[in-house]
Formats: sequence, C-alpha cells, structure tokens
Amino acid sequence: MIQYPVRSTTRRNLMKSGAALALSAAAIARSTHSAAEEMKRKSVDAGREILLDNCSSGHHVPKSVGQAVTRALAIDPEIDCRTDSRGLSSLRKAAAAMHRRATGQQVDPDRHVLITAGCNHAIDLALRVLLAPGDEVIVQDPGYAPHVQKILANGARPVLWPSHRENGWKPDFLEFSSLVGPNTKAVVLTSPGNPTGAVLDRELLTRVAEVTRQNDVKLIMDNAYASFIHNGSDAFNPAMLPQMKDHVINAHTLSKSHAMSGWRIGFAVVPDAWIMPMQHAIEYSALSVPRVSQIAALAALAEDPEYLQQHRDSLRARQALALQRIQAMPNIFETEAPMGGFYLFPRLIAANGSVEDTVAKLQAETGVNVLPGTDFGPSGEGHVRISFAAPEDDIHAGFDRMQKFFAP
Ligand SMILES: Cc1ncc(COP(=O)(O)O)c(C=O)c1O
Repeated sequence: MIQYPVRSTTRRNLMKSGAALALSAAAIARSTHSAAEEMKRKSVDAGREILLDNCSSGHHVPKSVGQAVTRALAIDPEIDCRTDSRGLSSLRKAAAAMHRRATGQQVDPDRHVLITAGCNHAIDLALRVLLAPGDEVIVQDPGYAPHVQKILANGARPVLWPSHRENGWKPDFLEFSSLVGPNTKAVVLTSPGNPTGAVLDRELLTRVAEVTRQNDVKLIMDNAYASFIHNGSDAFNPAMLPQMKDHVINAHTLSKSHAMSGWRIGFAVVPDAWIMPMQHAIEYSALSVPRVSQIAALAALAEDPEYLQQHRDSLRARQALALQRIQAMPNIFETEAPMGGFYLFPRLIAANGSVEDTVAKLQAETGVNVLPGTDFGPSGEGHVRISFAAPEDDIHAGFDRMQKFFAP
C-alpha cells in the first residue's frame, strides 16, 4: 500500500501538520501498482487463476490494428527506426481530431500534440517539466495512486482533495479553493475517476478551472475513462472553456477506449509553451514512443465509431451484471452504481479484521483480485475496488467465490 504522507484535508491543517515530504524511494517502491502486481505474481506462481483482474477484459483491439502492423512489418522501410520525438505526424493529426471530438477544441498537431507511451507518461512528462522540490499538486482522494507517486518522484508534495461516498464521491469546491496556496503548481484530475467512477460535472470543473487560471496553476486532465460514462452525464472537459487555452494539459490514452493497455500508447494536448520542454523530456528519457505502437494507434483511431460503441455497450452490460450480483450481497457490500469507468467501489461491511488484510486473504485463497480502498488514499478507508471490465463468466465466478469466502 502506498504511504500517503498528507492526511490533512485543509491547507491550514496541512501547514500545522508540517507534512513536508522528501523524495522517498521507499514510498515509490511501495506504489499500489508494485504491491498489487506482487500479490498477483504470487497467485500466478501458485498456479491460481486470477479473477476480476483489471487487464483480463476479454476485449480485443480492433482487427485493423493487427492488419496495419503486419502490413508495416512487411513493407515499411522505416519500421525498425524510431520516430520524431513528438511522434508520427499522421498520428498527431489523428490525435488532434480525437481531442476535438472529445472536447470541441481545435488544436494544431504540430504545436499542441505529443505522442506518449500512454496517459501516465503524458502526465509524468508534464509534471517533470513543471515541478521543483517543495511545489504542491492537488490530487483527488480517493484517486489514482500513480499520480501521487509521480509528484513524489519530483520532490513535490501531493495535497489531497477528499471526496466521500455520502456525496456520490463528488468533491467539494470550497474545500478545493482552501487547498490552493502559493506553492500550488498543478491540479491533476481524473473524470470519470478511478476508483470511484465519479464524473466531475461542468459546474464544478468550471469553478475549479477559474481558480486555477487566476492562480496560474496548471490543470492536468487524465481522460483514461472519458469514453465510459454510464449514466448519460455530459463529459465536460475544461479545454471547452476558451479562457483555459493556455492552462490545461489533456492526457488521452487508447489503453481503455481501444483495449490497448499493452501497446503503451496515448498522447498529450498541451499549450504552445509546453510542447518544447515536454518534447525534450521525451528525448532525454525514451527518444520516442515505439513506432510499431504508433502505427497500431493510427489504425485504431481510424476505426469505425461502431467499435467504441460496442465496447461501451459490452461494458455497460458487465456493469449491470456486477451490480446485480453485488446488490444481492447486502450483508457483505454496500454499493451504488458508478457514473463511469470500470469499477465498483463499495463499502466492505463484512471485513474480518482490516480491509487490507481481508482483501489479501481473499486474493490468496480465491484468486479474486480486489484492491483495498486505502490504496487510493485515506478517504478510501473501509472500501474496496472491484473491476467489472472482466468477461461475464469471470464476473459470475468472482462473485460466487466472494460469496463463499464471506459466508458466515
Ligand atoms: C486514472 C488512470 N489513468 C491512467 C491509467 C493508465 O493509462 P495509460 O495506460 O494510458 O498509462 C489508468 C489505468 O488503470 C487509470 O486508472
């Protein structure tokens, strides 16, 4: 479990607690990903089947992706060469078009788009360019832990913006404005969120955007789940506000929308002034994103929108099934339908000891891969994250096993 150093929710408390943070290699080593992966490895080594795992969705990349890669391997004389560090020009054009479909914002592929190895990479580049030791970055709690790790890796301090189940996991704007101070350099927001599925609405995002603009704070949007909003709420992005042109960085990925997490491909849409420093960060770290993944992404982005709709529909059916199963276990879980994303984030009523120990035991004994809510921040206390991206048979098997595990 990640060690969350900042537990206070208001700036005043934060200052009082003196929760200054040094860059901590130990904290990074304990990241959620490493811990979860280690747990999974142990199960795999013991020959156990893993159920409800985030990646085993059974969704496949569009066929055109494999065809494009095969064709390139056969005929593209440059297939073995790295690309321009900003990415293939054709892919940047397609990325700009996707960004426009998502936000309505027209951007110049040469001046605003960088191809990255996924959304995490895009946000990592932005934070590297932006942060110096002692800076602060506001993140959601519960939220995606790797963002906290990126902030720590830059010697900066994560400031947690809490949300609670009683409010549908929607964080409070007044609390947000109390967290912004002289050291705040950026805000990283994910909508729909992981693990809560909360969709940040137009009104909240507009108010947040205004505060960040007035304080010269960068707003970094993680759009990993943006194509999976389940309840018809509108997918608002601060890039839709013309006054935010120079203040928002958008990180997009094909990991979820096109089931391409293993291809490590996504892109950043950034203000003019950011393109060069972030490009340099790509150059000194990886030179470029692998060409083969860029060719794959180009084919995926050219896919018929029908593919995305099918993916969405199938996820919606899986969500309905998972909800039906979990709501039939009222003595074990207390839950609501998420607004978006891949996860249920119920309160675990039937924990035997701590939620963390219960979840570890569940995985060791049954292979069901559920994560404790505190892996996502202190406000996740008492909850667990359950992925419903898995195929329907796995969802049934996972819930059957949980029912048996928690039986009195
Ligand atoms: C909020 C969030 N952002 C980003 C990612 C990963 O995105 P990528 O594969 O593009 O780095 C995930 C994956 O779980 C996620 O939950």
